[in-house]
Amino acid sequence: MEWRGVSVGVLYGKHRKMARGAARDLLSDADTLRTVRAARAVLRQVGARFVDLGLADDPRSTLALLVCRPPAVVLNVCDAPLGDSALEPALPAFLERLGIPYTGSPPGALAFCRDKPAVKACLRRAHVPTPAWVVVPPRRRPPRWTALPAIVKPATEDASCGIDRRSVVASPAELRDRIAHVHRRYRQPALVERFVDGRELNISLVGGRTPRVLPFGEIDFSAMPPDRPAIVTFEAKWMAGRVEDRGTRPIPARALPRETRAALRAHALAAWRLTGCRDYARVDVRLDARGRPFVLEVNANPDLGPEAGLARAWSRAGGDWPGLLLHVLSLARRRAPRAT
Ligand SMILES: Nc1ncnc2c1ncn2[C@@H]1O[C@H](COP(=O)(O)OP(=O)(O)O)[C@@H](O)[C@H]1O
Ligand SMILES: [Mg+2]
Repeated sequence: MEWRGVSVGVLYGKHRKMARGAARDLLSDADTLRTVRAARAVLRQVGARFVDLGLADDPRSTLALLVCRPPAVVLNVCDAPLGDSALEPALPAFLERLGIPYTGSPPGALAFCRDKPAVKACLRRAHVPTPAWVVVPPRRRPPRWTALPAIVKPATEDASCGIDRRSVVASPAELRDRIAHVHRRYRQPALVERFVDGRELNISLVGGRTPRVLPFGEIDFSAMPPDRPAIVTFEAKWMAGRVEDRGTRPIPARALPRETRAALRAHALAAWRLTGCRDYARVDVRLDARGRPFVLEVNANPDLGPEAGLARAWSRAGGDWPGLLLHVLSLARRRAPRAT
C-alpha cells in the first residue's frame, strides 16, 4: 500500500492525571509515548504525514483537529483518554461518527473486553475454559469462597493496574482485605478467581476476519524470588529492572504437547470471534498443573509497541515492527468509506 503523502493521525494519551487507582498507573501511559515516537519514525520513512493527536487533560484542541482536518487514517493507541480507561471505547465511537478509519477494535469490543467477568461468562457459554470466579461489588459481603489460593483483580482494569504480589491470597482474611483494597483504590467490583498455578502463555493474533495466530509467547518465571507469586504484576510490566520485571522474562513458548497447542489456537480464535476483536489482539492464558489451558483475559488493542508481546510474536513469525505497524494501518485504511 502506498503511504507517500498520506496523513496518519496518531491518537494517544498525554494526560497527567488518572481518574482513579494509583498515581504510578501513569507509568503504563508513559510507555505509549515510546510507541508514538517509533511510529513517527516509521511514518517519516515511508513518506506519510504524521499528525500528532496527543490527548491532554483538556482534549478540546485535539478533538477539534479531528473534526476540522480529518487525517486519512488514525493509529489508535489511546487506551485511557483523560486518564480514564473507561473512556477507551469513546474515541473509536467518535471516529466512527466522523467516518475516519482507525486501527484496532471497534467500540463495542473495547467496552466488552474491559469487562473481564462479562468476557469470562461469554467464554464459558462457548465452552472456552476460564478459571472459576466470583464478582464482589463494593459494599457487598465477601463471598463464601473456598478455593485458595485465589487471585483478586479489579474487574474492569487492564495493564496489570491493581495487580501486585498481594493480589494472590492464601487465607480468608487476606481475601477479605484484598477485596476491600480493590473497592477502595479502584472503585469497582473485585474479580476473585481460582489461581491457576502453571505456565503462562500469550497468544497474539493479527489480521482481518480470520486472523493469523502468531507463534506463542511464554513468561519465564524462573528468576522470580520464591517469596513472590509467579504472576505478571504492575511492577513486572512497567518498572524495568525491578525484581518482578526480571522475574517475568518474555520468551518464545517452550515445547507444548500437540493437542495443547491446537486447543490454545482454537481458544484464542474463539476468544477473538466472541469478543469482536479486530486487527490485532492478545489472549492471556495459563496452564494448570495438569497442563489444561485456561483463558485469563482477552486484550483488544493490546500494547502495539516495538518491545511488547505482540511485536515479539510478529518477529517470531519473521516480520519487523515497521511491517507490523504498516500492516495494521493498512487493515484500517481498507475500511475507509469510499468517496461518492
Ligand atoms: N486466575 C489466575 N491464575 C493465575 N494467575 C493469574 C490469574 N489471573 C491473572 N493472573 C496473573 O495476573 C496477570 C494479570 O492478570 P490479567 O487478568 O491478564 O490482567 P491484566 O489486564 O492486568 O493483564 C496475568 O498475566 C497472570 O500472571
Ligand atoms: Mg493480561
